Amino acid sequence: MDQTKAPYFQALLDYVDAGVLPFHTPGHIQGVGMDPAFREFVGDNICAIDLTPMPGIDDLLQPTAAIKEAQELAAEAYGADHTFFLINGSTSGNQCMMMTALNPGDKIAVPRNAHKSMLGGLVMSGAHPIYMEPAVDNELHMDHCVTPETVERTIAEHPDVKAIYVVSPTYYGVAADLRSIVAIAHAADKLVLVDEAWGPHFNFHQALPVSATEAGADMCINSTHKMLSAFSQCAMLHQIGDRVRLDRLKAVLKMFLSTSPNLPMVASLDVARRQMAVEGGALLSRTIALAEEARRRINEIEGLYCFGEEIQGRNGVFDLDPTKIAVTVKGLGYTGYEASELLRKRYNIQVELADLFNVVALFTIGTTRDAMEKFIFALEEMARDDRKFDQFAPSGILEHRLKTSYQMPAIPPMRMLPRDAFLADTEFVPFGESEGRICAETLSPYPPGIPVISPGEELTLEIIDYLKLEIKAGVRIQGPYDDELKFVRVVK
Ligand SMILES: Cc1ncc(COP(=O)(O)O)c(C=O)c1O
Repeated sequence: MDQTKAPYFQALLDYVDAGVLPFHTPGHIQGVGMDPAFREFVGDNICAIDLTPMPGIDDLLQPTAAIKEAQELAAEAYGADHTFFLINGSTSGNQCMMMTALNPGDKIAVPRNAHKSMLGGLVMSGAHPIYMEPAVDNELHMDHCVTPETVERTIAEHPDVKAIYVVSPTYYGVAADLRSIVAIAHAADKLVLVDEAWGPHFNFHQALPVSATEAGADMCINSTHKMLSAFSQCAMLHQIGDRVRLDRLKAVLKMFLSTSPNLPMVASLDVARRQMAVEGGALLSRTIALAEEARRRINEIEGLYCFGEEIQGRNGVFDLDPTKIAVTVKGLGYTGYEASELLRKRYNIQVELADLFNVVALFTIGTTRDAMEKFIFALEEMARDDRKFDQFAPSGILEHRLKTSYQMPAIPPMRMLPRDAFLADTEFVPFGESEGRICAETLSPYPPGIPVISPGEELTLEIIDYLKLEIKAGVRIQGPYDDELKFVRVVK
């Protein structure tokens, strides 16, 4: 196919050029009725192509023309059999993959540290999760990927699992051994679903990890908006082979996608694919070189550490995406949260992620050398400055985490499926008195962000005591309705 074409973007341009008199949604009618200040800021052109499915402008739910061609071009570029554009991020991708592959009660092996949208997929599909422990790195204070050995053991212990679900790469850019995982799973006749939200660029450069499509996963998702140039919320779902029922996948997508997709978003997926197919190699070479230079220079700054190739081969670290710059700041005496705040307040720099020990800066095809120089200058200055001039109170959390490491309690018994617990009648009870109750929410100390308990599991004394200690030390607990976890939502 001609990868220099962007058929869907072209279809929108053709509609504008034709000067059609619009009596259709959206109600701002190509910007005429839009709030003037907003329109002036966002520009006339984006308003002009904010249209609706109609003749000449294909329908995302039932594509027959320009969107069909755009998706076929994307499938070719990614080496998939079919590619589908998503307009609600990898969040909807996770939900769609599970709704396609699983029926209520079907077992799926999932890593305990998956993104929360995975739980949405479990609730919607009614599937039965078999949790796999990710590899935990006590030196870097983060969790990595699930290993092939873990997948093999899980299949041996649960021969009736229907699918293996893996997250690769992680938020920090660590990639799993997908080829081995796919080989093990397929040999046992299991489906492989990959959350590759953070790896939409992997297919376009040899220095990047093997992608899920290259590894032969049955379905995978990419957040095209995260590491490539599509608008926010834009993602792709790729499908390969004949293990997945295509009619079911298409029916699921029809149910999940809006009947009124934002067409500039859809067009941005089309041009993001074209950009990668045509000049991805060159753009990513420049990005990778810039990121590697940043990594080297950051590692020369006393008190900072930015992991790279040297951690390859550790448990759960098969490969690395060099474009993620995770800077461990504990050597400066800051938490990652504090470093992130300083970077923003003092240097007007915003990083992607901060956790207790790290800040993570993304280097993408949009990152300039000038931006990199400013980032490194800020880090150098932070390392030189005397910490006592800073406004932060000494953090007890750091010491707590360094002492306790990640000795998490055992995964508690599952008394109900996540879906049943989520949909059940629930009530709030004091957390300290919740022993023996079935939890209806997820409780994850962050970092590492691995749920200590998920919906449907029993609140054991061990878990309650563990979380009380974490809270006392000031660790954030993600997931509960009551942020302070004085009360917990349980099944009535
Ligand atoms: C591993 C992973 N999967 C899925 C998602 C959801 O992606 P999106 O924001 O595109 O909906 C995220 C978001 O951060 C993620 O980190």
